[in-house]
Amino acid sequence: MTLTPGDLTIEEKAGLTSGASFWLTKEAGGIPAVRVSDGPHGLRRTDTDAPSAIAVAVPATCFPPAAGLAQSWDPELARQIGAALADECRAEGVDVLLGPGINIKRSPLGGRNFEYFSEDPVLTGAMATAWVQGLQSGGVGASLKHFAANNAEHDRMRASSDIDPRTLREIYLRAFERVVRDARPWTIMCSYNKVNGVLASENHFLLTEVLREEWGFDGLVVSDWGAVANRAAAVEAGCDLAMPAPGEASDAELAQAVRAGQVPESVLDRAVARVAALADRAVAGRQVTARQDADAHHALAREAAARSIVLLKNDGGLLPLAPSQSLAVIGVFAAEPRFQGGGSSHVNPTRVESPLEALKGGSRSVGYAPGFSVDGTGSDAALVAEAVEAARAADVAVLFLGLAARQESEGFDRTTIELPAEQVELARAVVAANPRTVAVLAHGGVLRLAPLADVVPAILDGALLGQAVGGAVADVLFGAVNPSGRLAETVPVRLSDTAAYLQFPGEHSHVLYGEGIFVGYRWHDARSLDVTYPFGHGLSYTTFGYADLSLASSAEGITVRVTVTNTGPAAGREVVQAYVGLPDSAVSRPPRELKGFASVDLAPGESASVSLLLRREDLAYWDRRLDRFVVEGGSYSVSVGASSRDIRVSAAVAVEGDPARVPLTLDSTLMEVLADAVAGPILGEAFASLMPADSDSGAADALGVDLLSLIGSAPVGRMVSLSGGAVTRPQLEELLARANAAAQ
Ligand code: BGC
Repeated sequence: MTLTPGDLTIEEKAGLTSGASFWLTKEAGGIPAVRVSDGPHGLRRTDTDAPSAIAVAVPATCFPPAAGLAQSWDPELARQIGAALADECRAEGVDVLLGPGINIKRSPLGGRNFEYFSEDPVLTGAMATAWVQGLQSGGVGASLKHFAANNAEHDRMRASSDIDPRTLREIYLRAFERVVRDARPWTIMCSYNKVNGVLASENHFLLTEVLREEWGFDGLVVSDWGAVANRAAAVEAGCDLAMPAPGEASDAELAQAVRAGQVPESVLDRAVARVAALADRAVAGRQVTARQDADAHHALAREAAARSIVLLKNDGGLLPLAPSQSLAVIGVFAAEPRFQGGGSSHVNPTRVESPLEALKGGSRSVGYAPGFSVDGTGSDAALVAEAVEAARAADVAVLFLGLAARQESEGFDRTTIELPAEQVELARAVVAANPRTVAVLAHGGVLRLAPLADVVPAILDGALLGQAVGGAVADVLFGAVNPSGRLAETVPVRLSDTAAYLQFPGEHSHVLYGEGIFVGYRWHDARSLDVTYPFGHGLSYTTFGYADLSLASSAEGITVRVTVTNTGPAAGREVVQAYVGLPDSAVSRPPRELKGFASVDLAPGESASVSLLLRREDLAYWDRRLDRFVVEGGSYSVSVGASSRDIRVSAAVAVEGDPARVPLTLDSTLMEVLADAVAGPILGEAFASLMPADSDSGAADALGVDLLSLIGSAPVGRMVSLSGGAVTRPQLEELLARANAAAQ
């Protein structure tokens, strides 16, 4: 179907740029309606088109939310989940799934951190690219969200994320850019917040200049639900579809703005054409046959959950447990697991496998004590005494701790990263009764773990694992799965150590991203701050050795090759991480930044050569003078290891830089002009001629400092007045023009 916008009236066209209902676009002029649904870690298809809060969703597989899945560091797994989600969408007649959420976790307090992957843009970008490719391969469109800089819930519909250009590009847009370029999502969802003072829904710079003109986005921009304040401004900026359904009066206002010439009709036509193109994609997608299979999807959810569990510590090799060991399962989350977050992404799972149920399998003796109430806080002496009794009677105590659903959700930020004190007290009492205690954690946002890690010898961190949490935890506890998950976020020693601590969540509707590019581990490493568990950390039931690092630089980037050997007793998967630094950089940089990763499965004693490409574009920094990415030439250090702070092998490699000459202007400093091959010698001569004959030592003596150190930072244009008119402005302009021409 090809739409000719001329076939429709202005009113009909305006109508097409807003939703018909909560989840449907309009049908008009031969363009069929498109059905969208949340998203992201499972389908939330409601029975009716009523607002999400009051509608019941059809049962769907609840895969691990992004905070959990990111810990797998496994894009292939994300791809499989994307494909499974497409099957479920197809089976329910859903054309676009509203996800993935790929904002960077700027502060551990961010209320939607559970919906986002990581504090790192390269890890986020790799996971989300595969997820989108998987989903779209099944004929269902993705909606990459929330574009952009949606990093807090506080004041989320008004606050401006105030970010310098370099930080915006390198941290907050980098993953979006990667997914747009590599996976071509059908849609992208603009966020509620403002970016540098302009609502994302009205942000021409983001929605048109960056997204379309620079990155080549060819899909549709949909607003977040209720994010559009001004329809005309939104359409002009490049927001094509206002959701959910602002109504006829709002459509009429837009039509009126077009009739009054405030918005060119061609701009409206452009938006309509994009709605039509989305409908085309949806219609084609409907031809893909759905292979809905609840059992297979549950099995995939279990595999994904198990792969996403991080073994934080394992003193004395307490884990894996022997099948014959008797267990005291303690903590209410064992029976009523916390496995997803609250808000628009909340899925109605097809089934829920509780850890308690899963651990009860076989002939094993399993006692259970809730320890605290399901709101995560309430505990009393009787509950603790019961838990202590159970722990004493068993070979091993397994403690299920974490945050309750109402302690974190979309809609509000957290104010603390503490595990509820009652739970830490419970852990102390249980360990005192039975030192063979393992803690299993469930939470969407990062927790301060030092108090717990000081007490318990072994910790498994699942973040949020989805509906198959029980079987997955059992698989890892008993060693059926050797843990290979890695932290996608730093676990800080204290909240006040974190990068955004002083500027989160901002004030008076402004959030200053004052920490710049130093987000997450970039901050902790640059400040040499201790952490409880570093970004990328995760142990295994086996051990791995690294050797023979080789680096090769090419037009594509840096190819890293390293030999990894399983040096321990069990088969296992190692996630090889490559971090890059440029010690002598002309711009400020963290000591190490993740630029690539890969994983390898190895039997005991087995070795493999692992190869990864650190993409050249990921080495680039954003140069605000040139308004573009630049790869700086130099000797890059490449550190390869098992976490951001467990570097096993490193080496340096020379990388050729991009040409990045900044044109000289009257605002260039004297030093900058003196450094130029053409203008430098001429200016130097003029400069010398202004000095008294014996000026070399004379000026320094008179001023107590070398003259150039004193005025070298002055814009060259000021030479006119500083020389008392001996150097003229036309002379300087001519000189600079000559230098600029010679550099072409
Ligand atoms: C959320 C989006 C979601 C939409 C539809 C909004 O409140 O921010 O992530 O897709 O609602 O439920």
